[in-house]
Amino acid sequence: MLGSGFIARFYAESLHAQRRTDRIITVYSRNPENAKRFAEDYQLPNYTDVMEEAVHHAEVDVVLISLPNHLHEMAVAACAKAKKHVICTKPLGRTAAEAKRMLDMVEGAGIFGGYLEDLCYTPKFLKSLESIQQGSIGRILWAKSRETHPGPHSDWFWDKEKSGGGAIIDLGCHCVEISRNFIGKNIKPLEVMCWAATQVHPIDAEDHAIGLVKYANGAIGQFEVSWAFRGGMDLRDEVMGTEGTIWINSFLRTGFEMFTTGKGEGYVAEKAEVNTGWLFPVGDESHELGYSHMFTDMFSAIEENRDPLETFYDGYVVNAILDAAYKSAATKLWEPVILEDWRGNEPETSQKEFTSYDEEYYLIKEEVLPNGDTKLILKHKASGEVVQRTN
Ligand SMILES: NC(=O)c1ccc[n+]([C@@H]2O[C@H](COP(=O)([O-])OP(=O)(O)OC[C@H]3O[C@@H](n4cnc5c(N)ncnc54)[C@H](O)[C@@H]3O)[C@@H](O)[C@H]2O)c1
Repeated sequence: MLGSGFIARFYAESLHAQRRTDRIITVYSRNPENAKRFAEDYQLPNYTDVMEEAVHHAEVDVVLISLPNHLHEMAVAACAKAKKHVICTKPLGRTAAEAKRMLDMVEGAGIFGGYLEDLCYTPKFLKSLESIQQGSIGRILWAKSRETHPGPHSDWFWDKEKSGGGAIIDLGCHCVEISRNFIGKNIKPLEVMCWAATQVHPIDAEDHAIGLVKYANGAIGQFEVSWAFRGGMDLRDEVMGTEGTIWINSFLRTGFEMFTTGKGEGYVAEKAEVNTGWLFPVGDESHELGYSHMFTDMFSAIEENRDPLETFYDGYVVNAILDAAYKSAATKLWEPVILEDWRGNEPETSQKEFTSYDEEYYLIKEEVLPNGDTKLILKHKASGEVVQRTN
């Protein structure tokens, strides 16, 4: 484990939870006191304040990067040098160029590169994706993902140089990858339109943004991110297809509500702002946030010599989309997604297929009215005339 901060602890809770057999062998933290405390908390046999020592430890098969964004690349380089498999937290890079260098290092060294995008592993997400892939909601037209909270918990996030940006890079990476999965990873993201602003905090980066990602098949991905939202952590997705709809609420108001006068202080959930009054706790946070399924997929993939659901390549595509979002926020124009390495389908040129009512007409709409009549709205295929019929 590289890093001993917030996410390292979440990961450790998940890795050592219940009866899992995967173990953390050693932890690296630049501060030896933190490394020692982390090792004690999770009963680890080793700890160190020298990164290379952790990476090269003989018993270590896989290195887990839980360091701030600006340190991901050098940590991946250390893994490539040691030829140790690597799994890295999000965002993969601060830019697509940085992510591409990491992808090349991993592929060049012939090691496994897993992208720890936990929100693409929540039980609700996995079930939704399965339904979509089975065709339950038809062709995906629009996939929106929202992550907003009152702002991150460490100094480096607020420093644009170290983090690579504000809410877009920090939270947008989740939202973009969620939408991309729903729309289809083989579908090329073409261009991005994004509004971003620094509405509240005295920082150089954005603390609020909304963006649209246009895909080659006509689908649209939407992300909504904020570090200025009050009331906890709001994680919601909406997917609209030609045959159905999915709404997912992953954190607040998920059916678990609790009232307390404040007696007995305790942790409620990530980014919860209060611990009195009506609260929205989360049952098993690391499971509901996807960590359990994520690590199961990562380690199974290594053993089965296959790709995990989320790879370094996915991390690179996400960074390329976010690069375009930053550019668009500055130019106020649709900006192209620059992917020098695209491994999906080539952009489609096929026309949309409309539903035929009969030889002559397309069916636009059918609706049962309050009086029991069924109304049909039809379009004549040859003339284009729109007509209605009542049955
Ligand atoms: N849902 C998620 O997947 C999720 C959630 C939170 C954070 N993250 C990611 O995890 C990474 C770490 O975030 P965090 O929330 O744990 O941050 P954090 O500040 O809580 O922890 C960062 C760790 O890195 C150490 N560190 C900081 N600067 C360092 C330096 N210069 N050299 C060596 N060590 C240094 C800190 O001491 C700490 O142990 C980030 O990339 C972040 O985006 C992912």
